[in-house]
Amino acid sequence: MVLPGVYAPQEDTALLAGALSDESLRPGAAVLDVGTGTGALALAAARRGGRVTAVDVSWRAVCAARLNAARAGLRIRVRHGNLFTPVGGETFDLVLANPPYVPAPYSGRRTRGSARAWDAGSDGRMVLDRICLEVPRLLRPGGVLLLVQSALSDPARTEALLREAGLKASVIRRRRIAFGPVLRGRERWLRQRGLLSLTDREEELVVVRAELPV
Ligand SMILES: C[S@@+](CC[C@H](N)C(=O)[O-])C[C@H]1O[C@@H](n2cnc3c(N)ncnc32)[C@H](O)[C@@H]1O
Repeated sequence: MVLPGVYAPQEDTALLAGALSDESLRPGAAVLDVGTGTGALALAAARRGGRVTAVDVSWRAVCAARLNAARAGLRIRVRHGNLFTPVGGETFDLVLANPPYVPAPYSGRRTRGSARAWDAGSDGRMVLDRICLEVPRLLRPGGVLLLVQSALSDPARTEALLREAGLKASVIRRRRIAFGPVLRGRERWLRQRGLLSLTDREEELVVVRAELPV
């Protein structure tokens, strides 16, 4: 169920769900889905036997994720809050993240309403950088981060930041998709900034996998 103003699962959700299905997940593994939206990824992890916590900064998303968990008969702990604040001091075997990552022609502070699910500052990294810096202390030894983002928001920087923190990081999935309404609306600005070439007609999504060595 998608409540108004909550991000409906899309190609990025599906790409990350595919990567999740490739992970071995022991029963009872502690899983965090940060920026859960409808809870689609949290539900997928719970179906695999994970003990799942989901976090979102949007109250509507929190309500949607709780409703969807109840409808599916799955136990998921859903918390409202900013990124990792609601789970401070906890550690996880797996962290799932489909954060806002779209470069936006205005500063992140202006982001409100539904756009909070995708707009991420002029370089698209407003939330990505925070995740890269903060996630290492949330992972247990052998723990894994699966994160989806656009090639427009510099996946190489994501890999570099995670490696600097001691994680083994690489891109494990890629998918090219047609521009959605958000990119179409700012295509000109993206071309002016050099983030899209004149011939680009598709966006590439990537999944970065990062593991904290045992
Ligand atoms: C691209 S949507 C992904 C939703 C869902 N995980 C999916 O894959 O369909 C990003 C989600 O992150 C949430 N979000 C944005 N900034 C956040 C923050 N600082 N802390 C927690 N959640 C945030 C948004 O409200 C939105 O639900």
